[in-house]
Amino acid sequence: MTVEDIKNLETAALREIRGARSPEDLERLRVSYLGRKGALTGILRSLGKLDPEMRRNVGQEANRAKEALEAALDQALSALKTAARLAETTTVDVTLPGRRLPRGRLHPLNRIMAEVCDIFLHLGFEAVEGPEVELDWYNFEALNLPPDHPARDMQDTFYFNDKVLLRTHTSPMQIRTMEVRQPPVRIIAPGKVYRRDSDITHSPMFHQVEGLLVDKGVTFADLKGVLTAFVHQMFGPEVGVRFRPSYFPFTEPSAEVDIECVMCGGHGCRVCQATGWLEVLGSGMVHPAVFEAVGYDPEIYTGFAFGLGIERIAMLKYGVDDIRLFFDNDLRFLRQF
Ligand code: DAH
Repeated sequence: MTVEDIKNLETAALREIRGARSPEDLERLRVSYLGRKGALTGILRSLGKLDPEMRRNVGQEANRAKEALEAALDQALSALKTAARLAETTTVDVTLPGRRLPRGRLHPLNRIMAEVCDIFLHLGFEAVEGPEVELDWYNFEALNLPPDHPARDMQDTFYFNDKVLLRTHTSPMQIRTMEVRQPPVRIIAPGKVYRRDSDITHSPMFHQVEGLLVDKGVTFADLKGVLTAFVHQMFGPEVGVRFRPSYFPFTEPSAEVDIECVMCGGHGCRVCQATGWLEVLGSGMVHPAVFEAVGYDPEIYTGFAFGLGIERIAMLKYGVDDIRLFFDNDLRFLRQF
């Protein structure tokens, strides 16, 4: 018995272990090499018959080979087990019913926003976006809001400092657009706006869509035509529309647009406060002072603008009486849309 013999035995054993196809194969190999009557066990037992010098070398080699085979057997066994588990889990029972994936949906405000934008995009408007952190110049000054106008009040506006604020409406996008474009201009500007206001019909953050159309020869009739078309597409062709004189610093003349109450059909109810009408948007002919702020000549160009609140339209359309429901993210509410 020599060191060489042990090496050969080990090589043969390792080859057999690699070839094993089942835990039973491995067990048989373990017994035949390392068991009580195993080949390597026999060698270890017979060491005593060797002369002392041989005994040391052969003994060391035999012990090393024993450890190597034990390790190889363990490793092969766990590899076989892993493969078996994998084979089990990848077996597909095609007769089982499928697992349903929970399906998400658009938030009602996003739906209304998309619907509103879609209507104006089809009318030929282009959507633009701008910053929610805004300068006083764009939010107030250039829109002909005099320094003492109540809308500038700290009560209504979130200020960072005396020049920087959270926009209180999307109207600053009128200025930002005209500043970098020449007429004709035909844009809508959807986005978030912020006001220090919170109750069942007001949220400190809400959404508006601004509209602006400027060209030569634009009249109030164009305003009425476009906004009537919008209301009829949004609420239905049978719904009555009325233009009520109003005031905004950035338009002259100004009008608020009312629709026949969608709750009572115009008869008068709690929602329309017995008037039969609901206010849905603000509008007007762009004030000459606004054109001057952006360098448009008010003698050459005229235009109309409008602004509408998405939450308000969503509340009217879906009959929701508390704006906070849109922001609670309660799935029992959201799943209804
Ligand atoms: N910016 C106004 C607001 O929040 C809405 C508005 C009214 C926008 C008339 C306009 C407009 O463009 O012409 O409350």
